[in-house]
Amino acid sequence: MGISIGMLGLGSFASCFVDLFKAHPLVNRIAFCDREVDRVKRWADDPFLAKKFNPKDCYYSLEELCESDVDAIVIMTQPWLHAPQAVQAMNAGKDVYSAVPIISIPDDDEILDWCGKIIETSLKTGKHYMLGETTCYRPQTQFCLRKVQEDAFGDFVYAEGEYCHDVDAACNLRRVSQSRANSKAGQEGIILRKKYYDRGLKGGPMHYPTHSTSGPCFVMDTYAVKVTCYGYKNKTNDPYFKTSAFSNEIALFKMANGATVRIAETREGAGKLSAVESEIFRVMGTRGTFSENIWYYNGRTNDTDAKVLPEQRLTDKDMFTPFPPEVELAFKQALNKNKSIEELKDTDFKPTGHGGSHPYLVHEFVSSVAEGRQSAINPWIAARFMTMGVMAHKSALLDGETLNVPDWGLPPQ
Ligand SMILES: NC(=O)c1ccc[n+]([C@@H]2O[C@H](COP(=O)([O-])OP(=O)(O)OC[C@H]3O[C@@H](n4cnc5c(N)ncnc54)[C@H](O)[C@@H]3O)[C@@H](O)[C@H]2O)c1
Repeated sequence: MGISIGMLGLGSFASCFVDLFKAHPLVNRIAFCDREVDRVKRWADDPFLAKKFNPKDCYYSLEELCESDVDAIVIMTQPWLHAPQAVQAMNAGKDVYSAVPIISIPDDDEILDWCGKIIETSLKTGKHYMLGETTCYRPQTQFCLRKVQEDAFGDFVYAEGEYCHDVDAACNLRRVSQSRANSKAGQEGIILRKKYYDRGLKGGPMHYPTHSTSGPCFVMDTYAVKVTCYGYKNKTNDPYFKTSAFSNEIALFKMANGATVRIAETREGAGKLSAVESEIFRVMGTRGTFSENIWYYNGRTNDTDAKVLPEQRLTDKDMFTPFPPEVELAFKQALNKNKSIEELKDTDFKPTGHGGSHPYLVHEFVSSVAEGRQSAINPWIAARFMTMGVMAHKSALLDGETLNVPDWGLPPQ
């Protein structure tokens, strides 16, 4: 049975997703919502799969979209708005997909409260929430999850995750923050954030932690219990970091499965300035290790019989899990709107967007709504990615004091 989707927030990131949602074979209707009239018009006027769009499905506030009869809402608004909007949408009877993170504001305790509220609202309403974390569907993650299913890692011992994105990299964070201010919601956000800063609260990169924390957590299917974190403070009076306690934060976690995890979130540090950013993880087990697109396997079955086996170098194509054929064809069409189905039929599909994760995120959300099930990145899992960042930031503010990391467990079966 097909479902209907309302896209909330039609700014720059949503433009990578609208066609994918519209093209998915299980989506039979799409609605558009933004407070900026021209951003709605851009998609309302688009002829691509026009049969899935009715002009009455243009909305200019979340309230109007909640009153409509769409089944699910995809939240692609600015990061300080996600959690209250997700709660509002679930209370209105909608399943929710949210861009990352759960919420990003400079108040650690309020972020933790929002994690709890999303879980409570999902339980109370029976509506599902999925966090759209791109790292969870990168080809590297897909490969590692298959190895987990084969029990090929053995016991997990160590993992690293990093999101190293210099403020002046190709995807320039100064321009991103200017662009996010360029709307009514963006201007209100400046006033909202000033209230936090006036209370003496300062943020840091661990308030946007999910690209780095999710890789180790998702692959090992575990959560953090303790953290120690140190911060690096900007020393050049760079206005971008004026409201940040730190420009870089590096944390060490004790995980519930006994492994140790290092997470690096940096916004100041020369790197691949010509590329977008470094958004990677590595996971080490007693039998198998995945690092930098290489799989190492020693075939050990007890302490003494490890062998040196040839390493396996992997391409993205080797690592991706194939889509069902009809879904792959629909996505090929969405990513090549100027080509006909006939032209695309026998071509290779190259998933794009944050390592090729975008089509997989769309497929997981749409399928989970159509099947009435929790998605792979449900609120309990999403909270684990977020609490690691929040508690790391708190620890850095206390000069590395070791803190416990709260956990909400898993959804009831
Ligand atoms: N790798 C990733 O997962 C990744 C990458 C980039 C961006 N993002 C996330 O995507 C989100 C969107 O980023 P962006 O750069 O597109 O922002 P943007 O400012 O370009 O777009 C946000 C849009 O939301 C609209 N909006 C806000 N509140 C609204 C409301 N109540 N009703 C209707 N419309 C509303 C705004 O008018 C604006 O058009 C951010 O939260 C960001 O964290 C994630």
